[in-house]
Amino acid sequence: MTTMTAAPVTREILTDCVRTATAAPSLHNSQPWLFRIRGSRIEMYADPTRRLDVVDPDGREQFISVGAAVFTLRLAIRRAGFGCDLDLLPDPARPDLVARVAAMRPLPVSAGVEALAAAVPYRHTNRWPFATTPVPDDVLGRLQDAARREGTMLAATRPPGRDAVLRLARSADHQLYERPGYRAELAAWAAPEGRSDGIPRWALGAGDALNILPMRTFAEPARPRDRFEPSPIILVLATAGDTRAHWIRAGQALQRVLLTATWYDLATMPLSQPVEVPSVRRLLIDPGSGLSAQMVLRIGYGRTIGRTPRRPMTEVLLPNVRRAARRTSGPPTHDGILR
Ligand SMILES: Cc1cc2nc3c(=O)[nH]c(=O)nc-3n(C[C@H](O)[C@H](O)[C@H](O)COP(=O)(O)O)c2cc1C
Repeated sequence: MTTMTAAPVTREILTDCVRTATAAPSLHNSQPWLFRIRGSRIEMYADPTRRLDVVDPDGREQFISVGAAVFTLRLAIRRAGFGCDLDLLPDPARPDLVARVAAMRPLPVSAGVEALAAAVPYRHTNRWPFATTPVPDDVLGRLQDAARREGTMLAATRPPGRDAVLRLARSADHQLYERPGYRAELAAWAAPEGRSDGIPRWALGAGDALNILPMRTFAEPARPRDRFEPSPIILVLATAGDTRAHWIRAGQALQRVLLTATWYDLATMPLSQPVEVPSVRRLLIDPGSGLSAQMVLRIGYGRTIGRTPRRPMTEVLLPNVRRAARRTSGPPTHDGILR
């Protein structure tokens, strides 16, 4: 069924859309995004204070995270009954300005939009064992189609390629622990109760007793160990280049794939160690393909997982500059995001 609104978009509607966008996944739940509503447009910024310097020195995963929020925002605007226009990296002088997303004229809500939007609150990262039940080929095809629609490629690995990816992932995991500051950075994002970012203890999952999957150990002492599925289903998301624009595209595709998987009752887990060590990342994909690996994903059928926290809107929604200027007697303050 499709629905359509005739009323123009309001700031309240766009604020709701921003709230929905913050449900997106992000590296260590860093939520490295900021939003500003200007009329019917929303500006999205990468927050430079929330980049993870040790594991993500180039900010690639930060842009993937913000890209995931861009897709969720686009989806929320469409779900609210409006067309949506996207301008990526619109101002070369402001590299932190990731996107301008505009709500356009009223547009009917398609069944596809309804389905993806319905999955947003149910998508969670699952760090527990999955069932050994295979994922049907047509569902894998839907996930690949989701990636393609966002201008990326999703490869479903098969043994022995899958085993090679897992070997690389384990190797990257070991190498990361040798990186100065890595353990401290992980520990900083293993969040105690009551924090609105980071990964709560209950969501940290288990270690793999079979030592096949390198499950990220956020907090010491180590978590419980469990037997994970011995033949995990591993996907690799890739783009045809490796610029900021490609990273944002990868983030949008990631969220589209994750929401599609959620709609099919699949549990999902990004597994990013192999794309965080450049020498390992290069080996994930045949160099002759011209593609760059952006993310590795594990999917399967798993238990229901709860919702991780999100920062309040007061922290992520920037005030409108002109209104703020009117309230203060001095010149407008620059927050470091607008440069
Ligand atoms: C770029 C990126 C990389 C991630 N890498 C990992 C990872 O290596 N291991 C992991 O368990 N989760 C990973 N995640 C999942 C995040 O930790 C998760 O999205 C965040 O904690 C919020 O939780 P939620 O996905 O349940 O909403 C990654 C997410 C993103 C966007």
